[in-house]
Amino acid sequence: MISNEVEQFSQSFTHMDSMKNSKLFVEKALINGQWLTAQDGATFDVYNPASGEIIGTVPNLGKSETELAIEAANEAFRSWKTTTAKTRHQLLMQWYELILNHLDELARLMVLEQGKPLAEAKGEVIYAANFIQWFAEQAKRIHGTIMDGFSPTAQLQYTKEPVGVVGIITPWNFPLAMITRKVAPALAAGCTVVIKPSEFTPYSALALMQLSIEAGIPAGVCNVVTTDRAAEVGQAMTASKMIRKMSFTGSTRVGKILLSQAATTVKRMSMELGGNAPFIVFDDADFASAIPALMTSKFRNTGQTCVCANRILVQDRIYDQFVEQFTNATKKLVVGDGLSDGVTQGPLINEAALEKVESHVQHALELDGVLQLGGKGHEKGLTFFEPTVISEVPQESRFNSEETFGPVAPMIRFKEEEEAIQIANQTDYGLSAYFCSTNMSRIHRVLKELETGMVGVNTGMLANEFGPFGGVKESGLGREGSVLGIEEYLENKYSIIAYS
Ligand code: SIN
Repeated sequence: MISNEVEQFSQSFTHMDSMKNSKLFVEKALINGQWLTAQDGATFDVYNPASGEIIGTVPNLGKSETELAIEAANEAFRSWKTTTAKTRHQLLMQWYELILNHLDELARLMVLEQGKPLAEAKGEVIYAANFIQWFAEQAKRIHGTIMDGFSPTAQLQYTKEPVGVVGIITPWNFPLAMITRKVAPALAAGCTVVIKPSEFTPYSALALMQLSIEAGIPAGVCNVVTTDRAAEVGQAMTASKMIRKMSFTGSTRVGKILLSQAATTVKRMSMELGGNAPFIVFDDADFASAIPALMTSKFRNTGQTCVCANRILVQDRIYDQFVEQFTNATKKLVVGDGLSDGVTQGPLINEAALEKVESHVQHALELDGVLQLGGKGHEKGLTFFEPTVISEVPQESRFNSEETFGPVAPMIRFKEEEEAIQIANQTDYGLSAYFCSTNMSRIHRVLKELETGMVGVNTGMLANEFGPFGGVKESGLGREGSVLGIEEYLENKYSIIAYS
């Protein structure tokens, strides 16, 4: 090991030791308010992606424990659905406050298991808490409708009811926010949940649950199944008749499997799946806002978000100048352990992720892409990749058809607006798109043409609790956050009351 690696390695031990004494460092699964081990005692290890060291060990649950968790959630649903909206609001607000009171600890824990820089982790804790606050407020605004016009002797109405028990499967890239974006509206609506967090980041989920207990959320309302047997647990959820809805964030491949399995029990499904976001820079763009927007969209979470710019389309007239300025901005990024001062780019989640990124880079270079910066693994360690810029990337490159999930900016050259739109839409994905322009006519025109659920205009940041997050085409079903998010967890019951 070279000396800065030794220093980094011993630093992460210090951080871990203090974390292990925290009440938020929980190494058990949660079913019906009880912290449990697996029935057969099985466990799996969780690793720090920056150092490769084991952070700890959590229970490896399977089908039978998942069924127990579903039964617990089903039992808890009987009373939770009868609580008043005000009670649910108050409990969610207490949870929200507790999360913010533990911001530092939660953020450090997140860096240890996920790798993102500490400042980004703190941002995610707040982002995650905001969903709880938002849906605590929405809990009080659930209402149906009365329709009088149909008949002088009948009242028609529809009322809103909680869907029931919800199965929730979340990814590792946002270990807290992807949970609260689902759990908060579910609880606000009166549903109960069984959560399967990613096997790479279970500790953030368990810490969140510890705080939910302290907030007073009753036993069985939130259950967590820790596992690295994702297929078995997913199958148990989709097969269960007690689970009336599932919400999944992850790959399109797994989303399709869950959708087909869930057909056997006809559940409501929300799917936030993969993306292949185009980021278009038109020749009337303001560089002063376009470059920071692209930096955010491309390098947030080291390029590991479903809404990261995956392909960057720059108009011919400004191409060379834009590539140069963007490359200069990228040179300023600092790669390293997320807990080290000044770091802006953490590790990728594991070596397999790095191999995929590397293979996309190689493919583009084989197709005569021009390497402007980076292009290979970073000296910090096996999961670190150099922030990379490749210009003159042809349309046939894998960047154009597959999600890269890494810190690589492939720059494609285009001539006309129509050509950019055609390239942008030429994908099975439809999660997000971005473009930069100062021409209002063009902004309206392009906005209409892009086939995605979300569009960032002159910004690289879409996510917050106010906006409806979700995709079209093979990027998903349903919307999360915003006033629409709670509807995913509510059924509309229509009734007609005849009278004389
Ligand atoms: C994602 O689902 O990967 C992105 C979430 C976010 O942008 O916050």
